[in-house]
Amino acid sequence: MLSRDAVFEELGIGPVWRLREAPASDAPRSPLLSWDQLADAVAHCTACELHRTRTQGVLGVGDRNADWLIIGEAPGADEDAQGEPFVGQAGKLLDAMLAAIDLARGDNVYIANVLKSRPPGNRNPAPDEIAACMPYLENQIALIRPKIILALGRFAAQTLLHSDETIARLRGRVHDYQGIPLVVTYHPAYLLRNLPDKARAWEDLCLARRILTLPPET
Ligand code: URA
Repeated sequence: MLSRDAVFEELGIGPVWRLREAPASDAPRSPLLSWDQLADAVAHCTACELHRTRTQGVLGVGDRNADWLIIGEAPGADEDAQGEPFVGQAGKLLDAMLAAIDLARGDNVYIANVLKSRPPGNRNPAPDEIAACMPYLENQIALIRPKIILALGRFAAQTLLHSDETIARLRGRVHDYQGIPLVVTYHPAYLLRNLPDKARAWEDLCLARRILTLPPET
């Protein structure tokens, strides 16, 4: 069997993720709210103006003990109506992507968004909205403690990594989110319009899956 270091080498995993000690300011936070408290807080949240136009807050869906945490951008019209992330066209593609690596929504997978409320007209999230909503996602990450995070699209990737790099530059390697390996890939809504990039998304999914099969640390 390949050693862990040999696998790191093969995957091109840099020193960032191998550094298990996160800097103090980035230390994993303990969950502040329980799931019930979180659901209640999101349902009644008025921390940004989006609460005025949304139908409901969309917390997330799936297995709360999942190894996989998938993070998208924000609810769209379908998600706002149904109260569940990724239920529209992009969601169908996400389900197909998950099935391609033998995963299914709700089974060892939790799906959430950076924003819990729909931006009107599906416009991009604004920085103040992201700042107001991030504590909910941080709380979810602290509760789930996933083994891998898959960030879908620019907003999830840039927000979680505090980066302004493009997806093209961020994908294809393993990042660190407070000691949790994080892989970036294209947002399914983008892939619906840019079919050739599906092959790259497939590579990213395989990279993420490979991380979970790494041999134990020696
Ligand atoms: N796009 C997202 O980023 N999230 C959803 O829940 C739906 C579409």
